[in-house]
Amino acid sequence: MNRDDFKVLDTNIIYFDNAATTLKPKQVINDIVSYYRDYTANVHRGDYDNAVKVSNLYEDTRRVVKDFINAKSDKEIIFTSGATDSLNRIVFGYFKNLPKDCEVLLTKSEHASNILPWQELGINIKYIPLDHNYEVTLENVVNSITPKTKVISLAHITNVIGDIRPIKEIIKYAHEKKIIVVVDGAQSVPHLKVDVQDLDIDFLVFSGHKMCGPTGIGVLYGKEKLLANLKPLAFGGGMNVGFSSDGTRIYEEVPWLHEAGTPNIEGVIGLASAIKYLDSVGMDKIEAYEQELKRYAISLLENNPNLIIYNKHSKSGIISFNYRGLSSQELTIYLNKYNIALRSGSHCAKVLSDEIGISNTCRMSLYFYNTKEEIDKFVRVLNSVKN
Ligand code: ALA
Repeated sequence: MNRDDFKVLDTNIIYFDNAATTLKPKQVINDIVSYYRDYTANVHRGDYDNAVKVSNLYEDTRRVVKDFINAKSDKEIIFTSGATDSLNRIVFGYFKNLPKDCEVLLTKSEHASNILPWQELGINIKYIPLDHNYEVTLENVVNSITPKTKVISLAHITNVIGDIRPIKEIIKYAHEKKIIVVVDGAQSVPHLKVDVQDLDIDFLVFSGHKMCGPTGIGVLYGKEKLLANLKPLAFGGGMNVGFSSDGTRIYEEVPWLHEAGTPNIEGVIGLASAIKYLDSVGMDKIEAYEQELKRYAISLLENNPNLIIYNKHSKSGIISFNYRGLSSQELTIYLNKYNIALRSGSHCAKVLSDEIGISNTCRMSLYFYNTKEEIDKFVRVLNSVKN
């Protein structure tokens, strides 16, 4: 990893908003530009050289993703527009016909995209209680399960508290009860090695733009036997083999069944490039380094009596806090004067306020290109706030 790969850093910005979206290295940008500049074509539709090249790159990416998350088959990888799209497809494409008295288990620290689709579906929602650190424990999951529980849908890492959930243990227990587990990997797949076979994940979703890739591309992973029962939500070109005026229709197999219309080709090419970049850095190194940065930041931030930190104990590189006497937005606007970028607000986790008692926080979220020097400067600026 070379910070020079990230041209935006030349502006001396201290970019601590990686949970919202990450910076893109020049390798990813070059691959996207090259597709548009040097060999634009559609996928799966042409026999000329550029069309064949693009189709090959597109399908190669499925294998790159398969290897990255250790899926069994590239047919388990569906390209979507992002984690939100993937979750909606799972909720409405797989769980639509669940009897209405069934129950889904969620937590109040889930992102909007893992609560609103379930609310729209009209299924009973039960929130697993969080512990005193706003984290989920296996015990609380076990105690929340009833005979009506058919699905548990959880972030692997939450986007405000940043706790890494014990999903392997949760999934093992859930499977003993024949419960399907949906994992929102938007904040985990970019930051640590996720092995869907080792964790025995049923459905996994994530977004390219939170892992050095472009916006508008995401992944829906599902076990092959589950994807066989996933209904497509969009119909059109690319997902059919043939149809006739009398209504006869023959559809493609999975995964193409779920990729109607011209897909986000640059996004897919950029996603492959981003994964190759992350692999070259090493997911284990990324995880260890971010945890070290987080511990370092907490050790300094703890000394400022004006700060209320909500998630000292969570392990991922997310720190949510408030500054006494200032709104979260006032503080992030102040930090912006020093070219320090953090997000303020509810971070799309709007029912978390039921648990932590406030609706808005400042959120610092780290990635592997951040440094201790950046944290030092950030802490100096925070310590100079006069309110
Ligand atoms: N889901 C993104 C975040 O947490 C946008 O900031």
